[in-house]
Amino acid sequence: MDVTITLTVNGIKRTITTQPQRPLLDVLREQLHLTGTKYGCGQGLCGACTVLMNGKRVLSCVTPVVQADRKSITTIEGLAKGDSLHPVQQAFLAEGAMQCGYCTPGMIMSAAALLQKNPDPTDDQIATAMNVNICRCNGYTKILNAVRGAAEKIQGKSS
Ligand code: FES
Ligand code: FES
Repeated sequence: MDVTITLTVNGIKRTITTQPQRPLLDVLREQLHLTGTKYGCGQGLCGACTVLMNGKRVLSCVTPVVQADRKSITTIEGLAKGDSLHPVQQAFLAEGAMQCGYCTPGMIMSAAALLQKNPDPTDDQIATAMNVNICRCNGYTKILNAVRGAAEKIQGKSS
């Protein structure tokens, strides 16, 4: 049976009627047309579908949309503030930390969640926090550099 769910996505309140167990990822992509969040494995194993729910990282392919009821969701489309990209987005661009780019939105969302919680992570902490995010192009060195760069920017150690 369908249920009505109210959630805030990238600052905009949305009310949708859908099956409660439908993956949040499907709602974001198919109902709300926010296609920056990617479908990879659909099983919680690759991180391509990472979004923030009340500021915490979740894998939207294995998150039933009912869990998002009355919550605030941030997708890659909502990370920038107006014309200003988030420091993690800036760092990924500056470092060229993407090849095909398919994993990039999920990587950026995971890194943003990590730096929100721990603005000065060690490399091990970055690797541990982001180990759910898989890059099939094996671009991990540049991704690590980008997260380090974003951390420095957030701490004001670089411009
Ligand atoms: S698509 Fe969600 S973890 Fe792979
Ligand atoms: S850049 Fe291609 S999957 Fe990561």
